[in-house]
Amino acid sequence: MVRQELVARQLDEQIVARFPVGRRLRVLDVGMGRGAQALRLARAGHQVTGLEKDAAMIAAAREALAGQPEGIRERMRIIEGDGRDTGVHFLPGSFDVVLCHGVLMYVEEPDPLVAGLARMLAHGGLLSLLVRNGDALAMRPGLRGDWAGALAAFDTTARLPHPRADLDAGTPVRLGPDVRADRLATLTATLAGIGAPLQSWYGVRVFTDTVADGTAPPDDVETLLAVEERAGRTDPYRGVAALLHLCGVRG
Ligand SMILES: C[S@@+](CC[C@H](N)C(=O)[O-])C[C@H]1O[C@@H](n2cnc3c(N)ncnc32)[C@H](O)[C@@H]1O
Repeated sequence: MVRQELVARQLDEQIVARFPVGRRLRVLDVGMGRGAQALRLARAGHQVTGLEKDAAMIAAAREALAGQPEGIRERMRIIEGDGRDTGVHFLPGSFDVVLCHGVLMYVEEPDPLVAGLARMLAHGGLLSLLVRNGDALAMRPGLRGDWAGALAAFDTTARLPHPRADLDAGTPVRLGPDVRADRLATLTATLAGIGAPLQSWYGVRVFTDTVADGTAPPDDVETLLAVEERAGRTDPYRGVAALLHLCGVRG
């Protein structure tokens, strides 16, 4: 819940900063999972396409969409496919906003995928990437006193056991045992190289990443969100967040 709420606030900030108020945007959500952000944006009036390769996730997203009013159902389409094949499904330049949240960690070679996403963007379009922070992998084992784990984590972004089982919308999901992580500097260079240079970045889950799974939210969850939101935009805190939210803009 914390993650989806923070990403929603950050994304809305970027959308408001870059597009005229009230404009219906064409949004592509690659690896949309159950469609938390996709549905939210469709409810906000945008035209949303969700691309997802997992049949169970597609079924869950379709079920969630079926429960929406007709006007919202009409604004969203769900396509089964691989995010590495966007060029097969869509024309270049056909979206204003492309989301790719929590997906790069499963992809061995992120650069071709990210380049394909950038090609889908119209001029001035926004690319929103949410990745596991490869610069801060020692934080979680270190804070729980796993010194060997922390030491090993400094020098790798390779596949490591995923620290959480409930990354997706606060709902327990099986993510598979191992995921990659990405470093800010590497992705910054990638985005510059594909014509969608980094404009803004945020940390997501600075303080709450070490909270045990299943812990009930506090009564003052708004204060928790205010702290996370502030930390996510403030140095040095954002640099050690569990996740990084990178926003590039197509030149
Ligand atoms: C951790 S979930 C994130 C879901 C959603 N984007 C969110 O932020 O809540 C990752 C999703 O990416 C999907 N996925 C992973 N690799 C993919 C690929 N190459 N193409 C399309 N979807 C992919 C998985 O099936 C899963 O539904």
